[in-house]
Amino acid sequence: MIIKRPQDLRPSEITRESAYLSRRAFTRALAAGTALAAAPALASSLQDELTPESIVTSYNNFYEFGLDKGDPAKYAHEMVTEPWKVRVTGEAEKTGEYDLESILRGLDVEERIYRFRCVEAWSMVVPWMGVPLSKVLSRFAPTSKARYVAFETLHRPSQMRGQRALFSGLDWPYVEGLRMDEAMHPLTLLVTGVYGKPLPNQNGAPWRLMVPWKYGFKSGKSIVRIHFTETQPKTTWNLSAPREYGFYANVNPQVDHPRWSQAQERRLPASFFSAKQPTLMFNGYGEQVASLYSGMDLRRYF
Ligand code: MTE
Repeated sequence: MIIKRPQDLRPSEITRESAYLSRRAFTRALAAGTALAAAPALASSLQDELTPESIVTSYNNFYEFGLDKGDPAKYAHEMVTEPWKVRVTGEAEKTGEYDLESILRGLDVEERIYRFRCVEAWSMVVPWMGVPLSKVLSRFAPTSKARYVAFETLHRPSQMRGQRALFSGLDWPYVEGLRMDEAMHPLTLLVTGVYGKPLPNQNGAPWRLMVPWKYGFKSGKSIVRIHFTETQPKTTWNLSAPREYGFYANVNPQVDHPRWSQAQERRLPASFFSAKQPTLMFNGYGEQVASLYSGMDLRRYF
């Protein structure tokens, strides 16, 4: 499938056949009253093929299940995702513990084809399904003090073998954060499905973030807490290797990772012989998001 610009798309072209076919199963699995809606793909003009579903669901980083890319697909079924509670805390008028179902009730699920660029210099093109994060966050009425929003993901060693491992690579729980204007940007998605189906556990069921102009590690999986705050929150990868991973993590081909270049990327599926392609600033979404960072030195705020 080829990605077209939103203005080139007719609504009938946007929601793919597979999404229509599985619509009933998908909506059943989601909150009551949550409908699947066609929406602009919001991809840029690159002519990109979708990455095969089998790769997107089997080549994963989800350290809670192990360090190997094959571990999440092998072990994530051990995580129980129903019921799913989400705690909302901090600078908002409505805080407390909510069922995911009640948070999503009445919101339309959209399909968005986004390029996804990992900091490890590979990329995919994926039909995610979800709701704009802004629609969810505004339900809690954040106050004027909410300058950032922090996300905490599931800590449940009994079901997540990576959290029980002697060397798990990270401290738990996995935490991430966005500036409020990044979180409220219309491209930022709370993903509940992929390829027209409910999100598989290894991809972050029952919901995960997708911030397409940032490296994949900003997209926390299996979120259990949303915290509105005045101060910049701590983030897992920055805590674990501050020289390598900053808070912003915007895809920026001019700022190399200290151990490798970010100038190019390998689009999956790739073999050793596949040609690399140039990495685009903000992963190609600059037209929509560059203004969020005007006046900022993006080498310093990497
Ligand atoms: N979220 C949690 N909770 N734990 C993780 O280890 N890994 C991140 C991100 N979210 C991670 C996470 C990284 S490094 C990447 S590249 C993406 O998830 C991978 O998402 P995918 O498996 O859907 O491609």
